Amino acid sequence: MANPTITTKKNTPRAGAERVDAHDKVRGATRYAADDARPGLLHAALVPSRIARGTVTRIDTSAALRVRGVRTVLTHENVGSFDSGGFGFQSFYPLRSTQIAYRGQSVAMVVADTLEAAREAAGLVVVAYDATPFVATLDAPDAEPLTQTAVLPQPMFADRRVGDPEGALAGAAVTVDLRYTLPAQHQNPMEIIATVAEWNDGVLTIREPTQNAEGVRHGLATQLGIEPAKVRVLSPTLGGGFGQKNSLQSHTALVAIAARTLQRPVKLVMTRAQLFHNASFRPASRHRVRLVADRNGRLLSAIHEIDQQTSRHDLFPSLGTEITSRLYGVGNFLGRERLVRTDVQTPGYMRAPFEHPAAFAFESAIDEMAYALDRDPVAFRLANDATVDPLTGKPFSSRHVAECLVKGSETFGWARRTMAPSSMRAPDGSLIGWGVAIGTYKAAMAPAIATVRLNTNGTVRVAVGGHEMGQGMRTAIAVTVARALGAPVAAVEILLGDTRAAPQHLTAGSWGTATALPPVLEASQRLMDDLRQNAGSTAGESGVTALALLRASGRPFAEAESRRRAPGQPEQVFGRLTGGLPAAAGPVYPDFVGFSFIAHFVEVRIEPTTRRIRVPRVVSVADCGAVASPRTARSQVEGGVVWGIGVALREVSEVDARYGGFLNADLAEYVMPVAADIGRIEVDFVGKPDTRLNAMGVKGLGEVAMVGVAPAIVNAVFHATGKRLRRLPVMLEDLIGD
Ligand code: MOS
Repeated sequence: MANPTITTKKNTPRAGAERVDAHDKVRGATRYAADDARPGLLHAALVPSRIARGTVTRIDTSAALRVRGVRTVLTHENVGSFDSGGFGFQSFYPLRSTQIAYRGQSVAMVVADTLEAAREAAGLVVVAYDATPFVATLDAPDAEPLTQTAVLPQPMFADRRVGDPEGALAGAAVTVDLRYTLPAQHQNPMEIIATVAEWNDGVLTIREPTQNAEGVRHGLATQLGIEPAKVRVLSPTLGGGFGQKNSLQSHTALVAIAARTLQRPVKLVMTRAQLFHNASFRPASRHRVRLVADRNGRLLSAIHEIDQQTSRHDLFPSLGTEITSRLYGVGNFLGRERLVRTDVQTPGYMRAPFEHPAAFAFESAIDEMAYALDRDPVAFRLANDATVDPLTGKPFSSRHVAECLVKGSETFGWARRTMAPSSMRAPDGSLIGWGVAIGTYKAAMAPAIATVRLNTNGTVRVAVGGHEMGQGMRTAIAVTVARALGAPVAAVEILLGDTRAAPQHLTAGSWGTATALPPVLEASQRLMDDLRQNAGSTAGESGVTALALLRASGRPFAEAESRRRAPGQPEQVFGRLTGGLPAAAGPVYPDFVGFSFIAHFVEVRIEPTTRRIRVPRVVSVADCGAVASPRTARSQVEGGVVWGIGVALREVSEVDARYGGFLNADLAEYVMPVAADIGRIEVDFVGKPDTRLNAMGVKGLGEVAMVGVAPAIVNAVFHATGKRLRRLPVMLEDLIGD
């Protein structure tokens, strides 16, 4: 009997089709790496360094080894040599020597029959150190800024210069010269990092939440000196990535080595506190922004200088001016970035890693300039929109930021705003502030290979490179495939994050959808075309499904493949893809530049005596090209706004310069917004497909979502109070007194 649900009409997904993984998640059926409980599993625990820099002079594991159930304690003395691999978030790997590079660095790993035994024994490892002086913060007196042009490859990390930005300073009508400070911050995904390593007949299987299964696979193969074919990495679902899980972690090889030595599967689940020192984080940064405009409100010149924290052992680049140079049509621009070495683990990518801090500084300064010129902040932004990329002169693949501003103003009711600070009050006496800011983020893409297979029982199996970290990639793929084949969404099974299913390029930089969807769509269309051709005359019927055609054909299954790469990428880029190497392109392509855009409108209410800041209302309008999956897209923007509220008003990783490391390494003291802090968030999209970029017309959304939220908030706080706040996070005391 034919399945009655298989007709195109009934199963064309609704605009807001549900998340395909929602039911499993809310029922607790989704299995994360830390849930793994395979027979014979041993448990590992890390021992952190108590000093910020120096060497281990002696390590005594005898008490730890006496704990019942302890199988081994790995230290630099017994772990054996392993390669650095080249795929990590940092070049430094703990336990390869006696060196201590940062506080909280692992100095030993205990493996035991139970988690309790492992953690108890970890506390009994006695370590003696030879400590040396260290630099804990960006502002330390002996911290030395290094100009990126001098220390990083050129021209990739050159200053961004167009026109004569310094010359425009002289004789200018109106200038602002402002400095901004942002702290280090740590992403705290719900799912903490966990690794399960198991060896079977010389083949290593790693279960670990990662955004980069292929990188982990090749990195481990190098570290352990085995063939990549002998390593399989599984990362089907992440409970949040945010850049923390985008590289080989420092501990993964240790877990694999322990499993090989003990001939048993081994699991390591970090503690929340250990995440603060064992994974990358958003580095602290400081910014100087100089803007020049004429009396008619035309921006003439902008100079944006950034100092960003890095580690002593690596130079994590700063890229903030990649976007601030593109926010407006400014003919004279200089972006200059410097790095400051500190004794920390290497900082890294954390949702809009550079773009959020850079936009905070630049969009705050733009607001100050609007006020210096007595221009409405929305009108000032619209008047200075860019028509072509100021840096390269190339066209934008699409740019609808003006539409974001116009649409957002209307929804928000911006026309009712009065310009003067402290001019709007709520009936309860609260100060009301309305602020605006825009954001942009590169529209990048990476190569991907997709296969789609339809079976006569109606199931569809899709395999492609991509990682589901909660952003909704599975839903976007399921909706796309179901629509193309006339199949129910529920019939589509999607293999992601599995190095055996398809090459798994790093999913980051907001390129996931634009990378995975075009080949998935093309493979689905090929499959459909193939079935139609095969069926001949009956194939013309509208509403005919792939399954009906397959069944009529008498074939056991139908399968199609597609390989897609970014515009301008050579065929050889697939070699990088299969080698686990980064192969993303953008924002500069041969014929255009690609960026996503957003405008945020924020209302703050400030209680007049306590100065408590609330954010009851946000309107965000995004230009991310075509919206592949409306429900998950809206959710991405809501999440970005919530995080924007967090980075503006809550989050800071505290450092005690006497000790190094990070102090508030738990969810009680690393303060984030809770549900009660979040008011109404209205999300809208321009929705115009960007078909220059790819066949689906999609640009990225995950990161642009939070770019510009923080400046919109501080601009609103200024509007409410008349106070300019240039350091994040904003504290109540910043608004008390004067
Ligand atoms: Mo994301 S911060 O590019 O993983």
